[in-house]
Amino acid sequence: MKKLSIVMACMLFLLSNVLLAQNKYVGAKNCKMCHMAKGKAYPVWAASKHAKAFETLKTEAALKIAKEKGIADPSTDAKCVKCHSTAFGIDAKLNAGITKEEGVSCETCHGAGSAYKAPAIMRNHDACVTNGLINPTEKLCLKCHNSESPTFKGFNFATASAKIAHKNPK
Ligand code: HEC
Ligand code: HEC
Ligand code: HEC
Ligand code: HEC
Repeated sequence: MKKLSIVMACMLFLLSNVLLAQNKYVGAKNCKMCHMAKGKAYPVWAASKHAKAFETLKTEAALKIAKEKGIADPSTDAKCVKCHSTAFGIDAKLNAGITKEEGVSCETCHGAGSAYKAPAIMRNHDACVTNGLINPTEKLCLKCHNSESPTFKGFNFATASAKIAHKNPK
């Protein structure tokens, strides 16, 4: 009996991991309706450089950097796109509407949103976290803001997060 319950516990643990791992990327358009007027998270993000990060890879400046590294098209090469687009590199099965054009999107910083975006969950912080919501810290920013970036000039978390600050819709 005891052995059986241990086996059951292990199976439940594995199952819950599988379920959590299946949170899908829904794209910023699925956050917009609730994060527009109140808190303005969406418009603040949409006006930020993060929202334009994919477009940046099509500029003259990007082509010049890429050429020096022997990269033909920075907007398709993993060496560039991996930091410039949330949708790039995610498993196709986990893509529920995010496009590469939206650049560094909400779900890079807050986690894939399919499970936490329901209104009842959004209003309950603990339920959000259980369903995959991330409250990002400096560690997350440093995944991209580091010397691997060809244009890196240093990163100050306090100044940088003030530049992108957006609020709770409450
Ligand atoms: C149906 C409306 C709705 C949708 C859709 C929605 N949100 Fe929210 N969200 C809210 C509300 C309302 C709150 C404020 C909850 C509170 O504090 O009472 C919130 C809070 C949050 C918070 C702070 C949560 C916390 O507890 O720290 C984050 C981050 C967030 N939303 C991100 C997102 C992202 C990213 C998406 C899209 C993937 C999204 N939301 C989609 C309504 C929504
Ligand atoms: C997935 C990679 C990625 C992550 C994670 C990331 N960023 Fe960025 N960030 C970028 C890219 C790429 C740009 C440049 C976009 C452009 O100019 O097109 C950028 C630009 C910025 C800028 C504008 C810089 C300027 O000179 O005005 C600020 C501020 C910033 N990020 C802050 C943050 C903060 C704070 C975090 C963590 C909460 C963070 N970023 C996480 C990739 C990322
Ligand atoms: C490790 C993550 C990372 C990689 C890889 C990366 N970038 Fe970026 N990129 C960033 C970040 C973060 C910024 C914001 C400025 C900074 O800190 O470098 C940025 C900014 C830029 C900018 C805007 C520069 C400016 O001064 O406004 C261009 C252009 C650019 N990247 C092109 C490229 C190209 C081309 C590649 C591939 C050869 C590339 N990036 C690879 C993270 C990355
Ligand atoms: C580059 C990373 C980054 C991106 C992109 C981003 N956020 Fe945030 N977000 C943060 C950080 C950092 C905080 C402040 C962390 C905290 O207070 O928990 C924050 C806070 C929030 C909050 C308020 C939480 C609170 O408790 O006050 C909401 C709501 C939110 N984000 C929604 C969004 C939505 C919606 C999008 C896309 C339209 C988005 N964020 C895009 C990094 C990001």
